[in-house]
Amino acid sequence: MSLVLGIESTCDETAASVVKGGKEILSNVVASQADLHAVYGGVYPELAARRHLEMFLPVVQEALITAEVKPEALDLIAVARGPGLIGALLIGLNGAKALSLGWNKPFVGVNHVEAHLYAAMMHLPSVPLPALGLVLSGGHSFLVKIEELGRYCLLGTTVDDALGEAYDKVAKLLGLPYPGGPELEKLAQSGDPSRFPFTSGRVKGRPLHFSFSGIKTNVLYALKGQNCSKEAPILLEESDKAHVAAGFQEAVLRDVVEKTDLAAKSFECQALFVGGGVSNNQRLRHLLKERFHSLPLFFPQKGLSSDNAAMIAGLGYHIFKQSGPSPIDLSPLTRFPLDSIDNQVNHGG
Ligand code: KG4
Ligand code: ZN
Repeated sequence: MSLVLGIESTCDETAASVVKGGKEILSNVVASQADLHAVYGGVYPELAARRHLEMFLPVVQEALITAEVKPEALDLIAVARGPGLIGALLIGLNGAKALSLGWNKPFVGVNHVEAHLYAAMMHLPSVPLPALGLVLSGGHSFLVKIEELGRYCLLGTTVDDALGEAYDKVAKLLGLPYPGGPELEKLAQSGDPSRFPFTSGRVKGRPLHFSFSGIKTNVLYALKGQNCSKEAPILLEESDKAHVAAGFQEAVLRDVVEKTDLAAKSFECQALFVGGGVSNNQRLRHLLKERFHSLPLFFPQKGLSSDNAAMIAGLGYHIFKQSGPSPIDLSPLTRFPLDSIDNQVNHGG
């Protein structure tokens, strides 16, 4: 069981990839829908599902052609069963099931958030454990203790927005195009964070939990005036926008670094793995490297931080080895199974 076709369609990327032995990426095709959703300033779920349907077969075909692998040679089809948008998930999951039946190959559903962490391990010959996992994406923000692949213990999560979502919303307030995270990072580079010293949220009694909705409101008031609406015009000088962006970024990233440090000290942590779209952020990488100079720190290789199918194929290889195929009636998972993460991330049934 070595050649795995991975399929990803949880949000606004249709992706397919062929990975050998859980590690060697033979192809990694990503069709982004960012252009489609840009006019709405966020993902439009119905349009996302339709675009997945259009792109599913062309993307799978391109992944196979680039990898120079014929369907007969595949050993397994791995698909992200969630969490994600229901319409989008149904296209990928049902598409994977159809290919599995048509090509007579087993299939396995994997957890997209877990795959974001696997993306940071993929290139390693062996994984030091137990380790701390930090996932920062558009839909999720998690700190987990990784006991082994498939076995995690939740240490902290967000009580409101995910970090990527907060970046996107603040970017929108600043008038930046969607998706705003990378744009905000760019703008912040020319700003002085001390001009707008925001603070990120704390959750009473839960020192490892995140809260990013309060700072978002503070940015809104700084830009447009106290108690204003989101639609109000920006009152600040154009040149101040970079300072606001830098102040926001510095506050949320320092908060993430503090809580990650606290989490790492809560057990015999051997390494830190960081994944998800926000792990593209160079300021985050710098601050983490600065703080954790003695703890091995791993980020995804190029092209594996944001949504992709190589991480799905790679993780699928291991999950299949551990637990075998998923049932053909496997259901999509729209939300993260928080009640089950303390023991096991839900892959089947
Ligand atoms: O992991 P991902 O591709 O999709 C989800 O599973 O959500 O993450 C997308 C998120 C978006 O919110 C995007 O703005 C954010 O990651 N992002 C960034 C950067 N690059 C992507 N946020 C901050 N800085 C970046 N450089
Ligand atoms: Zn993702």
